[in-house]
Amino acid sequence: METIAGNLYDFPKYYDLIFGSDWAAEIRFLKACFAKYSKRPVKRLFEPGCGTGRLVIQLAKAGYEVSGNDLNEKAINYCNARLKRAGFPESTFVGDMADFTVKKKIDAAFNMINTFRHLPNERTAEAHFRCVADSLTKGGLYIIGLHLTPKTPAKCTSETWASTKGNLSVVSNLWTIATDLKKRQERIGVTYDVYTPTKQFRITDETMFRTYNREQMFRLLGTEPRLRLLDMYDFRYDIDCPIDVTDDTEDIIFVLQRA
Ligand SMILES: C[S@@+](CC[C@H](N)C(=O)[O-])C[C@H]1O[C@@H](n2cnc3c(N)ncnc32)[C@H](O)[C@@H]1O
Repeated sequence: METIAGNLYDFPKYYDLIFGSDWAAEIRFLKACFAKYSKRPVKRLFEPGCGTGRLVIQLAKAGYEVSGNDLNEKAINYCNARLKRAGFPESTFVGDMADFTVKKKIDAAFNMINTFRHLPNERTAEAHFRCVADSLTKGGLYIIGLHLTPKTPAKCTSETWASTKGNLSVVSNLWTIATDLKKRQERIGVTYDVYTPTKQFRITDETMFRTYNREQMFRLLGTEPRLRLLDMYDFRYDIDCPIDVTDDTEDIIFVLQRA
């Protein structure tokens, strides 16, 4: 199979075919958080690192005023085009989740599946929380989900997804190449195998996630005192089951509130 080295996020059509249909549990959970924790109706939302708009488009359809940013221009073009097609403003823009402002304060922000871990160091991670706190109204919510490094990390992890729409099929593999807990870097390999009636090819890429254990994450949260921790959940997205974080906790969602 022909192999092309490319940036994973430069192919929004393939990204969205694989991941775009997986949104219902997250959307249900976000709405449940708004109902449970916000004293005022939640109307205006922002997603830092919104990518192809997997969640943004669903929230727009659910009646929220949505916006978001992403470093990747191709993802933003794709996201704005789908918003426009559905009759909504093209409200997402190219930008850095560690350096952004919003025109009007938002009622809630969210960042659900490790996107925040793309930020490479403490300086940008702290800047991210500062930007979010600056953007939220008082009492506004920030819901952020990521994988923590447990005390005994798994040696080898990999995941595979496959999806088909019409004549296009994509199989995606994602695996940990190496984890350096001193440098706090998890190196991830990714492939997309793309099948159409006339051609087949593989796109390969590598990306980096910063690692966080429990203490590192709590220390970071402590650097932005305007964001107070209300509750924690895991990727079951069950609003009735907040969790306690332990040494073994991996997937976690923090619900934070702007003081
Ligand atoms: C795993 S995708 C998730 C996209 C979307 N949040 C979702 O849930 O489908 C991660 C996204 O983060 C974006 N990204 C990485 N670093 C970023 C940064 N510093 N600022 C904004 N976006 C960033 C990538 O371009 C990519 O679109």
